[in-house]
Amino acid sequence: MTVDPAPAATVVPARILRDIVGHACMAPSVHNTQPWSWHASGNTLELFADTGRRLAVADARGRNLVISCGAALHHAQVAAGALGWEPTVTRLPDGDDSTLLARIELTPATPSPDAGEELQAIRDRCTDRRRFTSWPVPEERLRHLAATADEWGGQAMVLQGPSERIRTDLLVGRALDRQATDEPLAEEQRHWVNHSARDGVPGVVIPANAPSDAHLRTRFGSGLLTEPERELEGSDGLLVLRGASDDSPAWLRTGEALSALWLRATREGLSVVPLSQVIEVDETRERLRGEVLHGMGMPHLLVRVGWLAISRGALPRTSRRPLDDVLSW
Ligand SMILES: Cc1cc2nc3c(=O)[nH]c(=O)nc-3n(C[C@H](O)[C@H](O)[C@H](O)COP(=O)(O)O)c2cc1C
Repeated sequence: MTVDPAPAATVVPARILRDIVGHACMAPSVHNTQPWSWHASGNTLELFADTGRRLAVADARGRNLVISCGAALHHAQVAAGALGWEPTVTRLPDGDDSTLLARIELTPATPSPDAGEELQAIRDRCTDRRRFTSWPVPEERLRHLAATADEWGGQAMVLQGPSERIRTDLLVGRALDRQATDEPLAEEQRHWVNHSARDGVPGVVIPANAPSDAHLRTRFGSGLLTEPERELEGSDGLLVLRGASDDSPAWLRTGEALSALWLRATREGLSVVPLSQVIEVDETRERLRGEVLHGMGMPHLLVRVGWLAISRGALPRTSRRPLDDVLSW
């Protein structure tokens, strides 16, 4: 049997592949480590975990690394759809222990109807650690964000009740305190602040004064970003992203869900800040699972969601590695 060659029009132009990967690399990643690499071949893009960029102390199992790659995988799918290519994703095609996290096959399609807004959300999204306004995020909006995460294979839980919020706040504070006295971990963290012109967290995006509420303190301590005085309250929304298991397939889905939630929030004018420390510390992760999730699922990431003051200044963008460093052919 002979198979007709695919019409020339179905070949993805190299500039489109570069554009998709370029947008994927705008994804958030733990400490802006950008722990991924991409391989393009024909109509296929492959996403690999760059394990050399794993945080050896804070992320020994690679949870945050795979979540970060999952976020890039979701960004890639959104960008492909917006640019007129339907992505079909095979996750972990070589098994759970492989560094090949996903293979994306691209076929021609009509660009998604809100392509412009989707690409803009990828460009606009950032981690803005400044305090939110006291204007609460309506529960309905938080549930809508959680539903968006769930549509992408995540399991998001809104923390609404006062007791679960207080417990979570205490656990976040405990995790921060535990990590503050862990010198190898603190050293690893310092290493990634102002790391280079292409990765790491620049001091200019870290608030200068760490707030007193535990979940509002940033892991990076006090930075250079000054904020004007104004009346603020810690009335932000809290969501836990969790999974049925605590392994690569589940983390990858959580990363995709995080990205879906975050891009949706960005389009709605909401700000999202991940808080991974309470998950990184074994004791607090286990207590979060038992005392807040009541054993229903394994916690992967905590995120806070809120409104930033309209009068706030624009935040400088964190940098990214050059495309040619992360994309091979
Ligand atoms: C898995 C994961 C964990 C993260 N954990 C934290 C955290 O604990 N605290 C924090 O301030 N930011 C956290 N971030 C945000 C990253 O620091 C941020 O995405 C990165 O510096 C790139 O900046 P950008 O999001 O503005 O592009 C996390 C991001 C990811 C994907």
